[in-house]
Amino acid sequence: MRIAVFAGDGIGPEVTEQAVRVLQALEIEGMELVEGDVGGAAYRRHGHPLPEATLDIARSADAILFGAVGDFSLDHLERALRPEQAVLGLRKELGLFANLRPATVFKGLEDLSTLRPEVSGKIDLLIVRELNGDVYFGEKGTRTLEDGRRQGWDMMSYAEDEVRRIAHAGFKAAQGRSGRLCSVDKANVLETSQLWRDVMIEVSKEYPDVELTHMYVDNAAMQLVKNPGAFDVIVTGNLFGDILSDQASMCVGSIGLLASASLAEGKFGLYEPIHGSAPDIAGKALANPMATILSAAMLLRHSFGLEEQAARIEAAVAATLADGIKGGDLGGSAGTKEIGDAVLARL
Ligand code: IPM
Ligand code: MG
Repeated sequence: MRIAVFAGDGIGPEVTEQAVRVLQALEIEGMELVEGDVGGAAYRRHGHPLPEATLDIARSADAILFGAVGDFSLDHLERALRPEQAVLGLRKELGLFANLRPATVFKGLEDLSTLRPEVSGKIDLLIVRELNGDVYFGEKGTRTLEDGRRQGWDMMSYAEDEVRRIAHAGFKAAQGRSGRLCSVDKANVLETSQLWRDVMIEVSKEYPDVELTHMYVDNAAMQLVKNPGAFDVIVTGNLFGDILSDQASMCVGSIGLLASASLAEGKFGLYEPIHGSAPDIAGKALANPMATILSAAMLLRHSFGLEEQAARIEAAVAATLADGIKGGDLGGSAGTKEIGDAVLARL
């Protein structure tokens, strides 16, 4: 059980530290933690956001616990050297193609949402986002047109095998939940989406127990704020999933509570909070570590099959919240370590 711990930038190290304390407290036999540098922190120390040494650690590990990357002061660098490339590089290099982003409202926290509590209180959905393809990883560039205008361009594409494997991930996730899968695309405009939809329908034949529906992404954005409780599992491409998952997290209203998993074929996965590096509060011991602690729970469940330990962590977080111990993101005043201590005590 070798777990790579990549804390990264901003609040990444602070929140990861608390999640590591929680993992260690479980005293799981054979668990070994190995740290590595990613993001802006790695760039400053090694001249690259995803150094070869970090990739080696990742490849030798069974799972990765990830903090956050992002550092505005490095935004002037060429794209390949920016902190974000660490997470994009890990996704690509390790074949992390299935991104699971659950968004659920915790009981008693319905008011955090900007939606009415009777609407937000029903949110319990899972976004399955494709993570290895789409316009993210297509060819891109800037060029000068004949008339002298500059043009930026990015190639959007999906090959059928790429769609098929995320389709299977989506259908399997739906089987484990309510048996409903909503595929989100823009097939009324994009060829990429038409193929996506065709393949979704093909794969659905193998899952007669799952009800497949389709929705255009613009409508999905509306429905997410109108009636988010109607969604269960959403499967979508990389770009739409990026946007909708942020939207879903804001519907919940507590970005500091949402965990995510990025899975490869098999058991390997990278687990990270969905909030970013939050430079505005970095180093102030204010960040809420719960999303990272919950990511550690996802790690134990998906990569190691340790359901019981995962559930213990989740119960400890829920109990901490129920006792009113909340970070600033939730309208409370508890600091990073205080929340970590509270979760540990309840564990
Ligand atoms: C996310 C982030 C990343 C993405 C960035 C940091 C490259 O927004 O994980 O959603 O766009 O995928
Ligand atoms: Mg995003």
